[in-house]
Amino acid sequence: MKIGIFISGTGTNMAAICRNFAEKKLVGVDEISFVLSDKRNAPGLEKAESFGIKTIVLPKKKDEPKEDYETRLLEAVQPFGTGLIVLAGFMKVLGHTFLSGYKGRIINIHPSLLPSFKGVDAQGQAFDYGVKVSGCTVHFVDETLDGGPIILQQPVLRHDDDTKETFKARILEQEHILLSKAITIVTTGKYSISGRQVLFSNKEEL
Ligand code: GRF
Repeated sequence: MKIGIFISGTGTNMAAICRNFAEKKLVGVDEISFVLSDKRNAPGLEKAESFGIKTIVLPKKKDEPKEDYETRLLEAVQPFGTGLIVLAGFMKVLGHTFLSGYKGRIINIHPSLLPSFKGVDAQGQAFDYGVKVSGCTVHFVDETLDGGPIILQQPVLRHDDDTKETFKARILEQEHILLSKAITIVTTGKYSISGRQVLFSNKEEL
């Protein structure tokens, strides 16, 4: 399956996917067709280019209605014929217009154990709350904020001597592993969805 990746910032999750693909470890993926950023200066763009992947920059115009922006997004990516879009640190909440073009074919990485700590700075929210465990989640994207069916989660312990930065860094390390695992589950089609539950046909392979 061909995949496309959306980013907004540093793009370390995207780079981890590209590295796994280059090392032929990303089972089920035939091509990373593009990396799209909604931010012109996203450092991740250079990283994508270093892997030889086509980059697209598509910022939302000032005062542009969300529907119009999402129509432009669709027009930009549909010609690639990707079976999956991976949101890897993409900071916009996608709405009906875009989602209707990729129903059940968009996944997102979120740096908390959902449904706890949705939205921005999830690691900081968890740290300030005083949790002993947080982690990361890969889920299908629907029209709710960080709310679609969960594919995989990875817990990360908070240590007594953690700072926000060290806690965040250890979660990020796990994000890099978890996202590629989830991509393989989706691209190989070894899952089914029952209500909110994502079930795997071959647990041994995970
Ligand atoms: C990650 O923590 C991701 O979960 C969150 O934003 C961060 C992006 O990091 N949505 P990067 O751009 O992949 O380095």
